[in-house]
Amino acid sequence: MAKHFEALQRAEAERKRKAGVESPDLPPSGAEWDSSSVVPGEARRKGIRRLLPSFRKEAVDGVDDSANELNKRRITILQPESFASEQFRMLRGRIDALATQQRLCSVAVTSANPREGKSMASVNLAVVTGMSVGRRVLLIDCDLRRPKIHKTLGIEAEYGLAEVVQGDCSFEEGVQTVGSLGIDVLPVCSLPGNPSELLASAQMKETLTKACESYDHVILDTPACLGLSDTKTISELSDGILVVVRADVTRREDVDAIMEILDRRKMIGMVLNDVEPTSGQRGYY
Ligand SMILES: Nc1ncnc2c1ncn2[C@@H]1O[C@H](COP(=O)(O)OP(=O)(O)OP(=O)(O)O)[C@@H](O)[C@H]1O
Ligand SMILES: [Mg+2]
Repeated sequence: MAKHFEALQRAEAERKRKAGVESPDLPPSGAEWDSSSVVPGEARRKGIRRLLPSFRKEAVDGVDDSANELNKRRITILQPESFASEQFRMLRGRIDALATQQRLCSVAVTSANPREGKSMASVNLAVVTGMSVGRRVLLIDCDLRRPKIHKTLGIEAEYGLAEVVQGDCSFEEGVQTVGSLGIDVLPVCSLPGNPSELLASAQMKETLTKACESYDHVILDTPACLGLSDTKTISELSDGILVVVRADVTRREDVDAIMEILDRRKMIGMVLNDVEPTSGQRGYY
């Protein structure tokens, strides 16, 4: 747990100049991502890994879904050479190193509270993993309350996690292939009335079992951990848990609280989000 405290100390100590400062790593305000390479179904996208040259406007839908906010979650897509993208590649490398010692097919990404960067971290971890040749990567949006993955990746689908778990469609029908990124995604397309029950169901467990049989890496974007049973349920089904801490925002006691809720043996690390690196090269992840 030394790393845990180290990250917390850094988070607490972090006093950055946020107001009015746009980091060089921030995707340009006008940048948009063309999601036309999203294809439904089972198609597997081996070898197609390019960034699309043109970008399409996203529909604005709420505070976190403006094009600018969506772009902040697409840092490794829009700026693959950035410092932030490099941090995600390093994170991937560390997870790979751990995976030589323990089973780590599925990794749940969570945080204590809303808006700390769980979806941002999930998407970017999936994207950098998808860039590695020969890896089959599935990103699952397990946030059945405030899903973000479909908007972030421009997926408009009829079926998603809720439909798969409810048996309204097959696993293969629910999975969308984002050809340009080399990853598959099981998004959330409709919000069920009973999210906690769906996540705790035997069908959800079967879905994750199937995911790990079909993919080398399964990344699970989850809701905030405090106040909901959803994340605990998902984390019990996953091999590892990655906790996102947002610098200057996440309170230490909240991180301590989720450490009590989640299975510490599954904790594989902590992502300190929204910091300015001390190395002299500025970034924001
Ligand atoms: N490092 C960062 N720098 C700038 N903006 C960021 C950063 N990380 C996340 N954001 C922005 O903060 C908002 C919340 O991020 P995100 O949706 O990833 O959080 P979340 O923890 O998944 O939220 P929720 O609990 O609602 O699912 C988004 O608008 C995102 O673009
Ligand atoms: Mg989220």
